[in-house]
Amino acid sequence: MQVRKARLQDATQIFEIVNAHSHDGTLIRRPFSEVCENIRDFTVALSDAGVFLGCGALHLYGPHLCEVRSIVVKPEAKGRGAGSAILKALLDEAESHGVQSICLFTRIADFFFKYGFRIVEDKAELPDKIFKDCQNCPRLHRCDEVSMVRGRIPRVSILGPKDEAQQLVRLAG
Ligand SMILES: CC(C)(COP(=O)(O)OP(=O)(O)OC[C@H]1O[C@@H](n2cnc3c(N)ncnc32)[C@H](O)[C@@H]1OP(=O)(O)O)[C@@H](O)C(=O)NCCC(=O)NCCS
Repeated sequence: MQVRKARLQDATQIFEIVNAHSHDGTLIRRPFSEVCENIRDFTVALSDAGVFLGCGALHLYGPHLCEVRSIVVKPEAKGRGAGSAILKALLDEAESHGVQSICLFTRIADFFFKYGFRIVEDKAELPDKIFKDCQNCPRLHRCDEVSMVRGRIPRVSILGPKDEAQQLVRLAG
């Protein structure tokens, strides 16, 4: 198996696998244009024969926080280490950017515990994520995901209402 950064040629397979898992809320739906725009966020796992097995993405909010997103493995490839290999590559990528706090929202906390993530009881402690995704999510008031973080919960955020965001950026400085 090989794990590498995605290329634009992987966008169709990423789009298909992510959206195949979005109808039940497992993953956030991603239009093809968004996958292409953000292709550099993605890491893919391939079999030794070069067959696409799965993907995951690391979204950078800023030096204070990044997020693991869209991590998924083809049903027939599950249980053979691809998911953990993708996650480890994303964690290495966060480290290479010097980002110490990594968040994610999930229904399968058990998978992430063993990689150092812990549950954050109050989602409001991750305002960047709330402003990026939750406010536009149809499940906003009936969210069944847990929020998790690896490292410290950041004391600052950069997304939010204009005045508030500016204030928070000042705090970051
Ligand atoms: C979660 C997912 C990416 C894991 O990929 P995978 O390739 O099957 O995982 P691995 O083979 O690397 O498993 C690594 C470990 O995690 C465990 N694990 C796998 N899936 C798990 C799950 N759904 N819940 C809890 N633990 C899980 C495995 O048992 C294994 O444990 P071990 O090291 O003690 O043997 C895959 O099951 C998947 O695509 N699920 C659907 C999409 C999804 O839910 N993504 C997460 C969104 S936040």
